[in-house]
Amino acid sequence: MDIEPFGLERWFGQYEHGADIMLAESGIRPLDSERFDTDPGELNYVIPTDGDPEFRDEIGERYGRGKDEVCFTCGTQEANLLIFLSLLDEGDHAVVVTPTYQALQSVPDAVGDVTRVWLSEGDWRLDVDAVADAMREETKLVVLNNPNNPTGRYHDEAKVQELYDLAAENEAYLLCDEVYRLLDDDPLPPVASLGEWGISTTSLTKAYGLAGLRFGWIAGPEDVVQQAVEWKDYTTISPPIFGQHVAKQALGEQEDEILAENRELAKTNRDIVREFVEEHDLEWYDPVGVNGFVSVPEGFADAREFCVAVVEEESVVLAPGDLFGFENYWRLGFGLPTAELEEGLERVARVIERGGTN
Ligand SMILES: Cc1ncc(COP(=O)(O)O)c(C=O)c1O
Repeated sequence: MDIEPFGLERWFGQYEHGADIMLAESGIRPLDSERFDTDPGELNYVIPTDGDPEFRDEIGERYGRGKDEVCFTCGTQEANLLIFLSLLDEGDHAVVVTPTYQALQSVPDAVGDVTRVWLSEGDWRLDVDAVADAMREETKLVVLNNPNNPTGRYHDEAKVQELYDLAAENEAYLLCDEVYRLLDDDPLPPVASLGEWGISTTSLTKAYGLAGLRFGWIAGPEDVVQQAVEWKDYTTISPPIFGQHVAKQALGEQEDEILAENRELAKTNRDIVREFVEEHDLEWYDPVGVNGFVSVPEGFADAREFCVAVVEEESVVLAPGDLFGFENYWRLGFGLPTAELEEGLERVARVIERGGTN
């Protein structure tokens, strides 16, 4: 099995450590551990290893599902991996809506065979007919990330229902990575609540600002979740005990406050970025979440040239769009503290004003 190198991680590996400001992080700024009780007691595995059953029941209620239809994981990354390992064999096929987070296309492509269906450039609209055209007899899975990384497009309820119906008619599962979903003020029903062919994955990484917990889950049909649990015995065995302990607090009495705070930060920062985009005659799709996919300023051959100039001249990391298949866009992550965002944008502006080589 061959796996493509994770382009974004390699780019970060090259530049992130030595840079002053990270404007390419895709989540909201991290919360401080002081907000939580961080003593889970005995540092054993979580037992049972798919997570505390009562807590799984509580999470299941968010999807109209029970505890055996939820498996706790080490982040969304493991949740997605377990689904790909469970549902795809060699010769099986998945349709992946792109651009997207690379793991959602490279992992299924390593396990089975992938057809990518592209969102329309600029408004990043999802064409369900194009997905229908890409479906095959051996298609087991349709993969969506909603809200989308890198574009910030949030496909609406009717569109997601249409995609779900298409998958279900073809007896394929719709896997939706919903890690950004709760950054929207009015989130759609999760895909795992739509019916027997719906699977949702998510975590506390992006919307809650708790990436270091490494705590996420799969919600979906029991047989699929139980296959994932079987695979999990070979990946991480159990979710992290610290992660589960803090997640109970973050998803319990602190949830409303955390989400309100994070949505407010996302909104404040989005307004600042919107102004920046307008001021520099750039284009973007006004996003949900904290990622914007922005056009390359005049004077630069492509996003890579621009992003290299920004990091080398001003020590600010952006993400070039070729990592997502679009060389004329760059991804800006604006979930960081507002003062840092402002400082970062000032530095990016200086590079734009100096211009490129083109
Ligand atoms: C769409 C998407 N899914 C999953 C992940 C990984 O998240 P986690 O920390 O929950 O594993 C990311 C991180 O950037 C992401 O953007």
